[in-house]
Amino acid sequence: MSSFDHTKYRPFEPVAIANRTWPDQEITKAPIWASVDLRDGNQALVEPMTVEQKKEFFKLLVDVGFKEIEVGFPAASQLDFDFVRWLVEEDQVPDDVYIQVLTQARPELIERTYESLKGAKKAVVHVYNSTSKTQREQVFRLGKDGIKDIAVRGAQCVKDHAEKNPETEWVFQYSPESFTGTETDFAIEVCDAVIDVWQPTPEKKCIINLPATVEVATPNRFADQIEYFCRNVKNRDSVIISLHTHNDRGCGVAAAELGMMAGADRIEGTLLGNGERTGNMCVVTMAMNMYSQGVDPELNFGDMDRVISVVQSCTQLPVHPRHAYAGELVFTAFSGSHQDAIKKCLANQTEDKPWDVAYLPIDPRDIGRSYQEVIRVNSQSGKGGVAFALEQEYGLALPRWLQVELSPIVQRFSEEDGGVIQAADMKRLFEEHFMTSSAPYALGNYELSKKDCDTVSAELAHNDGNITVHGEGNGALSAFTSALSEHFNVRVDIVQYQEHALTVGSDSQAIAYIQANIDGERYNGVAIDNDIVSASIQAVLATVNQKVIASEQANVA
Ligand code: KIV
Ligand code: ZN
Repeated sequence: MSSFDHTKYRPFEPVAIANRTWPDQEITKAPIWASVDLRDGNQALVEPMTVEQKKEFFKLLVDVGFKEIEVGFPAASQLDFDFVRWLVEEDQVPDDVYIQVLTQARPELIERTYESLKGAKKAVVHVYNSTSKTQREQVFRLGKDGIKDIAVRGAQCVKDHAEKNPETEWVFQYSPESFTGTETDFAIEVCDAVIDVWQPTPEKKCIINLPATVEVATPNRFADQIEYFCRNVKNRDSVIISLHTHNDRGCGVAAAELGMMAGADRIEGTLLGNGERTGNMCVVTMAMNMYSQGVDPELNFGDMDRVISVVQSCTQLPVHPRHAYAGELVFTAFSGSHQDAIKKCLANQTEDKPWDVAYLPIDPRDIGRSYQEVIRVNSQSGKGGVAFALEQEYGLALPRWLQVELSPIVQRFSEEDGGVIQAADMKRLFEEHFMTSSAPYALGNYELSKKDCDTVSAELAHNDGNITVHGEGNGALSAFTSALSEHFNVRVDIVQYQEHALTVGSDSQAIAYIQANIDGERYNGVAIDNDIVSASIQAVLATVNQKVIASEQANVA
């Protein structure tokens, strides 16, 4: 008997607000962005990031343009503590960037938090405690006064430590955790008490961060809470109102957008939406939403493939092919009528006119992509048909992103050939276009070693003589990629990676499929070998070989 029974749930109780103004507001200016990838995002990973991964991710966040970056929870994790020390001691934080750290409102944790930040130039100390009815009654078993007291004592402790360490430019942040499940008047009472301790001024503001720790209502209800809060909180002109939305109902971005319209100044989130449960709100989506409306998001996602590559390699989480703006299929049209409309609009589009292309909300080139059309050839050789045939006949389980690349190649061939295309032809086309790891350069002997990081030294055979390339990285693939990047003086980012064992016509062989962005262009490489590491690095070499050939051809032309 199913227990699927909606009557066990109660509706969210909205805050009573008269004359709400947020529905008439527009977002015309970027918020203060704060990344929580390295804290909230990291806490939600099956395998938390290593220090090396955090370093790489931090660099990406700085390059994208974040000025406030929550780098960890140093009192709760030695790795986070060490990472904060590395940032400070190795002077890794640009002068205009605040590093932010989270701590519970407990004296011993606050003390350890300040130890981690000793010597930092600028830092946000983010202190929180839970305020919702559910947590008060069932987790902490405290009344409202007890919960308020935890916040006030935490705030005082944060202030005392800051006064003892005047060499750092401190900013204080308080979060009434589980704000959406807290009576809004009580959240205001607690935040007012914290503000009383910190005594912010318009010149030296504090941050009050309102988390939708769990998203429990439609975004309009959240916006009502935010407008009500902004109207009633103490010293509004001395407080930065920050939002931290999660995506439990799938509306994390919408809630943050409506919350900004309701008066918030600052938005916390993660790149591509990693985070607890269904994730934090996705900063890429929200920033690109602004961008598509002609508003400068003050974050630069012009190299989206690098963002994807770093996020995927640090979180071990895939990016959905239909993820807003970033997914591999979002600028691809499958339907004939869409393709036709896009082609006509693109033909009309000129540099001096605002973007106006059917089905494409932004110009894919702005984020390093191009528009792709996928044509269904016929029942035999359509994308699904090609993939099916290659899998059945040869055991090649092509990832979707490679199916999308192969489909138009097969389509062209079938148009020229005029007949039904055979599986052997599909395989030949597949090999010609993607299995290009033997020319102009072929992998010879290589050596991998591991000290602080992985290093590779590899011989590459070429008609004009052999060369040796060297590289370092976080893993064999990344070391080899950086060896090729350096030798050929190109930027290679791995965007997609997939591998599997071959079961048809082979004896324990593995196949690796790679999509790389090389100097802004996408290349796909595939290689088969007895060893998966060799297959992977040959697949990267296949992409670089294609780039080398393309550059030679461009030079000749
Ligand atoms: O989701 C949440 O409430 C948090 C807080 C610690 C801000 O991550
Ligand atoms: Zn959170």
